Amino acid sequence: MLVFAVETSCDETSICVMENRAIIEHITFSQEIHKIHGGVVPELASRSHLEKIQIMTNELFFKKNINPNEIDVFAATCGPGLIGSLLVGSTFTKSLAISFQKPFIPINHLEGHILSTSFNNDIKYPSLVLLLTGGHTQVYLMKNESKIELLGESIDDAIGEAFDKTAKLIGLPYPGGPEIEREALGGDEDRFILPKPLVKEKNFNFSFSGIKTHINLLTKKNKIDKRFVKDLSASFQKNITELLIQKLEKGLKRLNLDKQDVKSLSVVGGVSNNKYIKNKLENFFISKKIEIYYPLKEMMIDNAAMIAWACYKNYHKSKDNIYFKPQPRMGVKNKLI
Ligand code: KG4
Ligand code: ZN
Repeated sequence: MLVFAVETSCDETSICVMENRAIIEHITFSQEIHKIHGGVVPELASRSHLEKIQIMTNELFFKKNINPNEIDVFAATCGPGLIGSLLVGSTFTKSLAISFQKPFIPINHLEGHILSTSFNNDIKYPSLVLLLTGGHTQVYLMKNESKIELLGESIDDAIGEAFDKTAKLIGLPYPGGPEIEREALGGDEDRFILPKPLVKEKNFNFSFSGIKTHINLLTKKNKIDKRFVKDLSASFQKNITELLIQKLEKGLKRLNLDKQDVKSLSVVGGVSNNKYIKNKLENFFISKKIEIYYPLKEMMIDNAAMIAWACYKNYHKSKDNIYFKPQPRMGVKNKLI
């Protein structure tokens, strides 16, 4: 089965052609325009998708010699995400599906992330999924391939958002995650003691907005020089990683009480690029004999390959749904298919 997939839920324009379990072509364009604004500007994101998507698709079909008539299914992210951006990608893909008279399959962006590690790993169930993005911080339990249960999530900012907002407060550009990771190298991670909201609660719920408030106060009390930026980045990264692991430990204990014997953990979404977090998660989970999986590098940030893969995996229960309206807010329970 040859799938053509599009992802435009936020600030990445991405297209992919996938044949069964093989990526034939995959192009992702990360919008630079938001850097100067310190965060994603929705209107600029939609316009940039519109400028790029047709050119990228032409290149893919003509320069790479892929015959669009041979595509079996057209799929696009239909939520959650920025409505203008979702509309560009989904309407464009629907029009291709109509012109080539093939089915259009709407895909849930979160399912794309969640299923991404099954592309390059044989998942052992029951499996936990840690979804760490700029819009979500969620923990799921997958009892098997199709049974996905939300165990907990952030009640305020997402973890990537915490990285981005902290970066902005200390004068680093957007997206803040990679910037903070870079600055943290050689910084003193013990210089600043930061809060760990909800750490004592025995569940998988997170809260990150208090950390940002605390950092805002520190920026008022200290001179923001190179040393401060490095030490604060290192202290923030250490604090948020410890918080993540301590909460996962508490949540796991609770699952054990419910006789849920977790065999593996998938770490997905843009924040899963962070080597410091990966390292600490690996130390913790390997000591518990829980296998840990990551997506392919190209499936970590928002991308169309994970959308193509979700379409491929769920195709047997999917319906051609050309009338599906994109939804900015959509949980995994909002099954599209
Ligand atoms: O999954 P993603 O590309 O888009 C969403 O669905 O939100 O994640 C983007 C988020 C941004 O907040 C970005 O700062 C964060 O992932 N991120 C990182 C790193 N690389 C990207 N956070 C921490 N460390 C990184 N190396
Ligand atoms: Zn995402």
